[in-house]
Amino acid sequence: MVDKETIKTEENNTKENVLKFFKDCEINEENVQQYIDSIIKEFYKPSPSIYAANTDTVKELQSKFGDSSIPKGIVCDKSNIKNYFSEIKTNVIDKSTRVSSPNMVGHMTSALPFFHRPLSKLITSLNQNVVKVETSATMTFLERETLSKLHRAFYNNTDEFYEKYLSTTEGTFGCVTSGGTIANLTAMWVARNNAFPKTEDFEGIEKEGVISALSYYGYNNMAIVGSELMHYSFKKAADILGMGLKNIYTIPVDSDYKMRIDLLIEKLEELKQKKIKVIAIVGIACTTEVGSIDKLDILADIAKKYGALFHVDGAWGGSFIMSNKYRHLLKGIEKADTITIDGHKLLYTPMGCGIVLFKSPLLPTITIRKVASYVIRAGSMDHGKTTLEGSRPANVLYLHASLNLLGENGLSQLLDIGVNNAKYMAELIKSYPQFELISKPVTNIFLYRYIPSWLRKKSYEIEQIEVKSISSPVSTVSTIHSPTQATTALPIIESEEENHNDNDNSITFCNDTLKDQISDISDFTDKEGSLIYEESHYNDEENAIIDYFTTELQARQKREGEGFVSKTTVKTTKYPTYSKGVDVLRVVIANPLVTEDNIKAVVEEQIKLGEIIEEEYKMNHKLIK
Ligand SMILES: Cc1ncc(COP(=O)(O)O)c(C=O)c1O
Repeated sequence: MVDKETIKTEENNTKENVLKFFKDCEINEENVQQYIDSIIKEFYKPSPSIYAANTDTVKELQSKFGDSSIPKGIVCDKSNIKNYFSEIKTNVIDKSTRVSSPNMVGHMTSALPFFHRPLSKLITSLNQNVVKVETSATMTFLERETLSKLHRAFYNNTDEFYEKYLSTTEGTFGCVTSGGTIANLTAMWVARNNAFPKTEDFEGIEKEGVISALSYYGYNNMAIVGSELMHYSFKKAADILGMGLKNIYTIPVDSDYKMRIDLLIEKLEELKQKKIKVIAIVGIACTTEVGSIDKLDILADIAKKYGALFHVDGAWGGSFIMSNKYRHLLKGIEKADTITIDGHKLLYTPMGCGIVLFKSPLLPTITIRKVASYVIRAGSMDHGKTTLEGSRPANVLYLHASLNLLGENGLSQLLDIGVNNAKYMAELIKSYPQFELISKPVTNIFLYRYIPSWLRKKSYEIEQIEVKSISSPVSTVSTIHSPTQATTALPIIESEEENHNDNDNSITFCNDTLKDQISDISDFTDKEGSLIYEESHYNDEENAIIDYFTTELQARQKREGEGFVSKTTVKTTKYPTYSKGVDVLRVVIANPLVTEDNIKAVVEEQIKLGEIIEEEYKMNHKLIK
């Protein structure tokens, strides 16, 4: 602890002492750096826990973090400075979440390549502010160059195009943001202003506001349309943009968790009739919860037909553009008007690095550009003209380094490792009767759940499995006929009629041209991504029990175990009557340090915990004979 008595003493609180922090301190930068290096070294040692949950009691947390007063004194002496960092180590670092642990396979935060750690020191040392050239003379251009690299990766324009927009004061390839949320918000901001532009007698929504814009253009409202698996950042965007959450229309997904095109078109027709302007159609690559990728090619054409901006939220999966093996999954992304991609996800940069790209560099200029006389001047190269954020760190340097040092091939390899690991783990899960796979990994995310022993038998009692390749364009789906009931249901479980998956995949299209376009997708539909269920079905009551086990298992492993997978709830076409959605374990593998042994350990730990939870459940329900 910092010795509060010492630091309170008057003689410490002098101008000379505070200036020591900028010049020469009793304990200098090198000493602090050495100490921090030792903390980092210890942090990276194998830890008995991932600390994905706090292991302290509320009382302990209060005693560590409950000091709401700002100390008065200047901490300038050696021992107290050391004490400060030592306190941070004890209270914060020792139990910080080990996001780079190879047993952590449940979230989107991963281990980082080594060079980002020294780079973070460089970025802090330079302390550039990329809002304007005057505080980031060269970094502004490094940011432009980096954005041009990503723009080219997706849109692959000509050399002349990139040369032109690298040095013009009008237009930008994109914006570097603090993450995917701000990137999506920026895209929706552009979409809204693009939908209600200036005319001769109207100054555009940007100046006139939402109410005047709707009235001028004769609309009753405006909307964003995307799948029910859209990231919640779109809710934030709709709220901030004055649209309201009710004006986000979410379309159900098919058995591959891709937005249903038939229902999308139905909704678009309905909105058209109701005079609701669709400002953007959002395609997702990959969905946060399941990892599925929407049919981007078709969505692009639909957006064009309905006059909506087409945005692809590729915060997670956009990086697969770097993958030689999986790039094809993104087919159609090159038609997107705007694309979100997160550096701090699969481009392996530290936190705080998102990007929104504009197919047309002039789009943000005509929709959202703002200027101010003292800082983001009209004729300048200042990036603050089109970024939502004002002052910004030079986090683009991380991105530049990831792209230049790992290169496309390095990133491609890293992505392959993640996908291979996810596929390995999904196969392992399938081989255990303890689990039911709920979604297969299209890339590096998949879902499964824990089945208690008395419900497992059903897996082996399926009379007939028929995997139908539906001629309809939506996808390949599996249909399971007449699975028999479990014969060993526990006494408290009433046997009920099975839920048959009578999913009718016949689609009615509003428009023949679209129908033709859509039937062309067979060449890019990812066959590997389609689900083939080999397990049985469960009725709603059984699903509720499975939910309990899955939720409890995840919580228990997080608290007590050495491994970690996350948890979510998804609606699945496999259980259409279970309207709440099934609780599932969610695997996300980005960390290239994850090995098959780590994966086995995580799964085996779950099996052991599952057995313990079952025992307790049986005791609680007095089911032991
Ligand atoms: C698909 C998708 N979009 C947007 C976001 C938001 O990104 P961020 O957390 O960087 O703001 C996420 C984050 O998980 C995501 O998965």
